[in-house]
Amino acid sequence: MIKKIAVLTSGGDSPGMNAAIRSIVQTSCNKKIKILGVLDGYLGLCKNKMIKLNKNIVSNIINRGGTFLGTARYLNFLKKNERKIAIQNMKNRKIDALIVIGGNGTYAGANKLNKMNFPCIGIPGTIDNDVSGTDFTIGYHTALETVVQAIDRLRDTSCSHKRISIVEIMGRYCGDLTIFSAIAGGCEYVITPEMKYDKNKLIKKIKQDIKTGKKNAVIAITEKICDVKKLAKSIEFHTKRETRATILGHIQRGGAPVAFDRILASRMGFYSIELLLQKKFGKCIGIQDNKIIHHNINYSIKFMKKKFQKKLIEIVNNLN
Ligand code: F6P
Repeated sequence: MIKKIAVLTSGGDSPGMNAAIRSIVQTSCNKKIKILGVLDGYLGLCKNKMIKLNKNIVSNIINRGGTFLGTARYLNFLKKNERKIAIQNMKNRKIDALIVIGGNGTYAGANKLNKMNFPCIGIPGTIDNDVSGTDFTIGYHTALETVVQAIDRLRDTSCSHKRISIVEIMGRYCGDLTIFSAIAGGCEYVITPEMKYDKNKLIKKIKQDIKTGKKNAVIAITEKICDVKKLAKSIEFHTKRETRATILGHIQRGGAPVAFDRILASRMGFYSIELLLQKKFGKCIGIQDNKIIHHNINYSIKFMKKKFQKKLIEIVNNLN
């Protein structure tokens, strides 16, 4: 019988995490389950930093970016001793289960707790859209809008100055945010971790396009592939076209969640309580074909690298 649960957000924040917390709190209150919020993710779990949650506390957060519980990247949680402390803290407070909202690192922590017989449920919250077992993660669509708006602005100025603009986009090792914002923003060139990056080929293509009359262009590239400032210098040197690089950075993580993320978060939050009531522990929630579903959390860990739709590369190449 589940009487008391806790919720935490961990890893990089994402717009819509608050909406998920709100949904979890409201659903558990309606089901007469007591709920605590853990501050600052797994760090707060080990430090025993928890607050009581109720409907009033979460009544004005659905539209707010970030996570009002706070978050952290707490690598010490990989140590079994730390997890033992976390479990003891939860047991002392008579917590029956834990819901975690975050990305792959967060899931790895939950999976380990689960293996130590503490019931956990995972909800995917990250702008990277890199969690397997779900078509979309909470926050991804908001970040996509933010990136497309940034690309639109860069296109305006690159068009006026007849320049090449490079825009570096987050995503860690997943190209979803880059490729979809490139399609929506009409980027002339796209480079993601799933594609082969060949600087010389890129420069050759830009030179060809300039020859056929191209005056300006936007290049979308995922972070961690190369030094975009150096790439800009190299393109400028070889093409004789002014080139500027913009790193969008943490701008992509903030902002009010778009409606899609609020709805996704609300659906997933509700579903997490349903799973707990059915005693389905060790699960992670996803959306597939617009249905909220779940998998075993170790399924998601096992296939950590999400499948990339190869067809997208063909589409993006065809659009230029
Ligand atoms: O996982 C979300 C993310 O924003 C990634 O896209 C990025 O690589 C990373 O977090 C940045 O982490 P931090 O905020 O710790 O610098």
